[in-house]
Amino acid sequence: MRTIRLGDDPEARDRAAALLRDGQLVAIPTETVYGLAADARNADAVAGIYHAKGRPSFNPLIVHVATLDQAARIGRLDGQALTLARHVWPGALTLVLPLRPDAGIAGLVTAGLDSVAIRVPAHRAARAILTAFDGPLAAPSANASGRISPTSADHVLDPDGGLSGRIAAVLDAGPCAVGVESTIIGWQDDGAPLLLRAGGIPAEAIEALLSTSLTRPATAQSHAPTAPGQMTSHYAPRASLRMNVDRPKPGETYLAFGTPGPFSLSQTGDLIQAAARLFDTLRRADGQNRPIAVAPIPDHGLGAAINDRLRRAAAPRP
Ligand code: TXA
Ligand code: MG
Repeated sequence: MRTIRLGDDPEARDRAAALLRDGQLVAIPTETVYGLAADARNADAVAGIYHAKGRPSFNPLIVHVATLDQAARIGRLDGQALTLARHVWPGALTLVLPLRPDAGIAGLVTAGLDSVAIRVPAHRAARAILTAFDGPLAAPSANASGRISPTSADHVLDPDGGLSGRIAAVLDAGPCAVGVESTIIGWQDDGAPLLLRAGGIPAEAIEALLSTSLTRPATAQSHAPTAPGQMTSHYAPRASLRMNVDRPKPGETYLAFGTPGPFSLSQTGDLIQAAARLFDTLRRADGQNRPIAVAPIPDHGLGAAINDRLRRAAAPRP
């Protein structure tokens, strides 16, 4: 299969929607990372996602829809979830909701769970494709399983660890503005909100909206064996990586923060800029074939998501 690179115009978006209706896989831009989209109602198409990514099949996928109303027809959206949806959607927030029995979502999307992860993306092209497609799209990040998430169409097509030749098309709308995946929020049986994955919307912003604190990933993990975003070594570059390094050793590629350098995440110490550059910089650093050292990143706001990804990248490889 030759993967087509589509432009970012109405005709290309209609073409993408037509391919998706036909059960094909299309990588689409979102504000967080590029997603590998398939019709969430078509189990064969969804199986194609797992296949193209080489993804362990127990990983449930995020369902993307154009509107809050569409989301509410797939998952039960009330209480705190509805508050968050109203304030943050469209945006980099995924809500894990009770799955409606009549939602029509392929069981493979939720890996057989009775909950479903849903988000309404903010990216203009993603929204245009969802509107043209007029249905739910399952879309994990458009990278081979265990590799770095793509924040550009070039990443999606990267001969090393990309999906070129494995998917029908990628719609190229330039680099992603946010650069890390969405924040995932779920709820415990007793109704307490859980931070299942730190991401593009700072946890602090969510806590402010809910006027309550979130149970954090370290504690959430034991409640969420079904959140494989929590898998160690999920965002693995080839090179070894160590964190919180003030002074790199000779021979290490240094990802600076708050200081200049060829691999600086943000010269000015801006966490939003660092998040947007993270995966691209990791890729470039990995291309040096030398150990990677990363400067300390403050652990608040988007820094929490950055450190989460870095910890996984630093984790021992399977
Ligand atoms: O920003 C994003 O969220 C990107 C873009 C493409 O939208 N998508 C993304 O999807 O990161 P993915 O499939 O790579 O991440 C899905 C995460 C996994 O950690 C998965 O375990 C969790 O969502 N998840 C999905 N359904 C779940 C469920 N029912 N319960 C708990 N976690 C769930
Ligand atoms: Mg991913």
